[in-house]
Order: sequence, then structure tokens, then C-alpha cells
Amino acid sequence: MKCRRCRQPAVIEVRRHNAGFCRDCFLHHCREQVRRTIDDFGMIGPGERVLVAVSGGKDSLALWDILGDLGVDADGLYLGLGIGEYSGDSGRYARAYAEGRGAKLVEIDLPADVGFDIPTGARVAHRAPCSACGLSKRHLFNQAAVDGGYDVLATGHNLDDEAAVLFGNVLRWSTDYLGRQLPVLPAGNGFVRKVKPLVRLGERESAAYCVLAGIDYQVEECPMAEGNRHLGYKEALNAVEERSPGSKHTFYFGFLERASPLFTPEARAERDELRPCARCGTPTPGDICAFCRLVERAAT
Ligand code: AMP
Ligand code: FES
Ligand code: ZN
Repeated sequence: MKCRRCRQPAVIEVRRHNAGFCRDCFLHHCREQVRRTIDDFGMIGPGERVLVAVSGGKDSLALWDILGDLGVDADGLYLGLGIGEYSGDSGRYARAYAEGRGAKLVEIDLPADVGFDIPTGARVAHRAPCSACGLSKRHLFNQAAVDGGYDVLATGHNLDDEAAVLFGNVLRWSTDYLGRQLPVLPAGNGFVRKVKPLVRLGERESAAYCVLAGIDYQVEECPMAEGNRHLGYKEALNAVEERSPGSKHTFYFGFLERASPLFTPEARAERDELRPCARCGTPTPGDICAFCRLVERAAT
């Protein structure tokens, strides 16, 4: 197979695009997909400061690298979750990338800075680990962005992630989540703008990007996520994609274009009813936000 762009021998095939690419043209293709996503959705304005949440995995490191190449002013943020060896290794990959490129990495350590790790926090609060983890990430990412004076918080969620979350939300008809599942969430009410510039790339592409760009990343998946529902949705969509390449893209982007606007009023109304948490000021439907309640139960 030949590269679609330069006709040299291809090193990777992207079936969804019915195309092969050589190394340089593939890296170019990934950057173009991200640039287009940022432009189409108005994710990052000129001169804005971006904080990229970097887990040490392929997606967030590829994202940080691509933003740098596109000339975006982007620092990294690593959150240590206290999940044993997995977290130790993840932090090392994030730090190694930052040192290698002379980039700034902000670090927060959940056990040292907040007082609990995810396995303990989840157990004490009777939550699934991924739920305690997601809650902590959302809160601490936003807080770090606000504290550091950043305009935008970027995460490495890719097309596979977003299609799987959408699939789960549709299976349960979680209309409130459907109204919030957007690649850009505007700033306001104590939140910085949140963006997902990788939604046009699949996880196979972000992995290939890192390999071809010479970026070392954490290959292991989080041990706490094993067997969760989200992974089941990914497997189901992979089976569909295998038979009909492009299905995930059509599913997700079709939703954004044609279905998502039907659900946004409900989500907006819910957001308007939030009040500041009595402890930390984060907007919440109750008096004390879910993160502060988790901290209260879990911190020793
Ligand atoms: P995940 O929920 O693990 O699929 O991660 C989704 C995105 O959240 C990643 O692409 C990162 O941008 C961010 N993220 C996940 N874990 C961490 C972490 N420990 N520190 C910083 N960012 C993270
Ligand atoms: Fe959050 Fe695994 S990364 S539970
Ligand atoms: Zn709070």
C-alpha cells in the first residue's frame, strides 16, 4: 500500500479513511485532524493558555505533543491517583516526556496533597473505583486550571472513548448526560472551558502517533477498570467497526450534529440550578459537593 499523500510506501492503514500513510504523512494527518477539531468547535482562541491533563498514556501524551507542534501554549497536569505500581509508572512517563521536551508539568498527588488514594477512597465512600476516580479528576483538574490562571482544560478523550460513552448513555437513555456530552463545555459558574481535541482520532491512531513520534507511554490499562461496563461498550463497538469501518465516527459525529441539540436545554437548566459548595465553592446541586463529601469520608 502507498501513502495517500506522498505515494511512498505506507506504514499504517486507517480503514475508516480508506487510506494508508507513511510515517511523516501520518503524523501530519494526526495534527491536521486535531487542528480541524480545534477550529471547527472553537476550542482554543489565539493566545489562550491551555492546561493538558496528562495521564502518561498514549492519548494525552499524543495530544500534548500535537498541541506543542500546533504552537499552542500548553502546560501538562499530572494527577497521582495512588493506584500502586500503575500510578508510579504513569507519573514517570509523564515526567520523562516533560523533561525531554522542556515542557512544564504541574503535579498533584491525591494521597499526599488531598489525603487519600483511589482504592481507599472508593472503599470508604462505597463507590466504584472509577466513579471516585472520575469525580476526583473532574474536581482537581478544574481547580488546578482555575488556580493556575489557565483559560482551557484539555483532555485526551478520543473517538473510541466518546463513542463508547455515547453508546452507554443511549442504552440507558441518560438524557441529562447526553445533553452534556460535547467536545467543548463552555466556561462559566466556576468552571474553565473543557475541550477534547482528540475526538477525531481513534485509539489505534494515538498509539501509532506515539510510536512513530518516538514517545514512550504507559501501555498498561488501569487495573481498577478491568471488566467495567465501559470496556464492554468499547468491545461491542469494535465488533461493529470491524464489519463497517467508519461506524464509530458516524455514530458520534451524527449525534453531535443531529441529536445532541435536543438534549442540551435539559442539561443547561440543570447547570443553572447549581449553587456553590459550602466548603470549596464548586457548583453543586446540594449544599456540599460530591468531591468534598468524598474527601470528608476518605481522608484520614
Ligand atoms: P481516562 O478516563 O483514563 O480514559 O482518561 C481520559 C483523559 O483524562 C486522559 O486522556 C487524560 O487527559 C486525563 N487523565 C486521566 N488520568 C489522568 C491522570 N492521572 N492525570 C492527569 N490526567 C489524566
Ligand atoms: Fe481511575 Fe483507574 S484511572 S479508576
Ligand atoms: Zn466542594
